[in-house]
Amino acid sequence: MTDVLVSGLTKYYGTKPALRSLDLSIGSGEFVTLLGPSGCGKTTTLRCLAGLERPTAGKITLGGRVVVDTDRSLFVPPDKRHVGMVFQSYALWPHMNVAENIAYPLKVARVPRPERVSRVRELLEAVGLTAFERRQVTALSGGQQQRVSLARALAARPGIVFYDEPLSNLDTKLRYQMGQQVRSLHNQFETTSVYVTHDQEEAITLSDRIIVMNHGLIEQEGTPEEIYDRPRSAYVADFMGFQNIVRGTVIERGDERVGVRLLDSEIVLGAYADADLSLPLGAEVTVAFRAEHVRLAPAGSVAIGRVRGTIKRTTFVGSGYNLLVDARGTTMRIRIARSELDSHDLSTPAPGEEISFDVNPRRALIVADEAGMSRPHATQAVRLPAPIR
Ligand SMILES: Nc1ncnc2c1ncn2[C@@H]1O[C@H](COP(=O)(O)OP(=O)(O)OP(=O)(O)O)[C@@H](O)[C@H]1O
Ligand SMILES: [Mg+2]
Repeated sequence: MTDVLVSGLTKYYGTKPALRSLDLSIGSGEFVTLLGPSGCGKTTTLRCLAGLERPTAGKITLGGRVVVDTDRSLFVPPDKRHVGMVFQSYALWPHMNVAENIAYPLKVARVPRPERVSRVRELLEAVGLTAFERRQVTALSGGQQQRVSLARALAARPGIVFYDEPLSNLDTKLRYQMGQQVRSLHNQFETTSVYVTHDQEEAITLSDRIIVMNHGLIEQEGTPEEIYDRPRSAYVADFMGFQNIVRGTVIERGDERVGVRLLDSEIVLGAYADADLSLPLGAEVTVAFRAEHVRLAPAGSVAIGRVRGTIKRTTFVGSGYNLLVDARGTTMRIRIARSELDSHDLSTPAPGEEISFDVNPRRALIVADEAGMSRPHATQAVRLPAPIR
C-alpha cells in the first residue's frame, strides 16, 4: 500500500520556486531519505507533507487520505494528519520533564491516563531512557534530548514519521548510534519514515530508498546501492563523492563498456554505460569514477586504458594515500591502499614521481551532465582496455 503520495507539489516563496512539481510515492513501511545539498528543497517537502507549509499547488495523500488538494482548496492542518515529526532542534518543552514531554501528544489526543502511562513506559524503554523519566529535559545531553523527541514523535502511534536532519547536532559516534536507533524504532513501531539529510553516509546506512533532490526536483531515486554505485548524472555523482568527473569523447562502443578518450589528453578510459543511453561514436560525455577504483600498474608501463601521470600532491589518510595526479593535463584524484604499495614494493609516493594506474572500467560510469549527452565529435576507433578483475 502507498502511504505517501504526492503529485505536482509546487511551492513558491514570493517569485522563487522551492519545489517544482514534485511527484513522490512512498510505500507503507518504507524508510525513504530525501538527500541533497543545502537549499534543494528537502525541508520544504517535509513541511508540506506535515502540514507546516501550504503548497502553492499539488496534491498530497497520506495513509490513503487526501490532506492537500489545491484544486479543491483542501488543506488538512498538521494536528489532524496523524503524523510524527522530529526536528534538528529537539523542540522539547523546557518546563516539562522527560515523561511529561513524551506524554504531551497523548494528552492532547485525550488518551486516557492508564494507557498514557503504559505507552510512555514502552517508549522510555524503546529509547533507553527509563532511568531518566523524571529528569528535566534541560538537564539532558544532546543525544538524550534527541531520544526524548524521537519518543515523543512516536507516542501517538503515527503511521508516518517525518525526520528533518534529526542527528546533525550530534558528534559522529553518537550520530551513528542514534541513526541505528531511529531505524530500529522504525522497524519496531512499523512506521513509514521520510527522513531528510544532507549526509550521504547516513542516507546509505538507514534507508530502503534514497531520493536525491536538485533545485526542487527529484534528480534520481533508487536503493542505496544504486545511488552509491550508479549515479546517473554528474550532479548525483559529485554529491555521492565521486572525486573524478572528467569530460571525454566516445571512441569505441561495446554493449556496456565504452571507450572514452579524455578531452584534454590522449588518455583512453573504459567506462560502464547504461544500456539505454544513446552514445554514438564521437559523442561528448562525462565520466565519473571514485578515487579508490584504480589499480597501480608498474611505473612506466604502457597499456591501453592505462593512465600515466605525475604526482602533484600526497596526503596520508591512514589506510593509504590520496594522490593528486597530473595525467597529461587532466587532473585525477586517486587513492592507493598501503597493501597495494606493498605488493608493488613501493614506499611513500612523493610529489614529482611518475605513477601509472588503471581505472576499473566497471566502476567508471558515463553520467549525464547539464550540457547534454551526445554532441558529435571527431571519431577514432581504438581497442578497449582489458577489464580489471
Ligand atoms: N520561509 C521561506 N521564505 C523564503 N524562502 C524560503 C523559505 N524557506 C525556504 N526558502 C527557500 O526555499 C529553498 C529550499 O529551502 P529548504 O529549506 O527546503 O532547503 P533544504 O534542502 O532543506 O536545505 P538545508 O539542507 O540547508 O536545510 C531555498 O532556496 C530557501 O532559501
Ligand atoms: Mg533543511
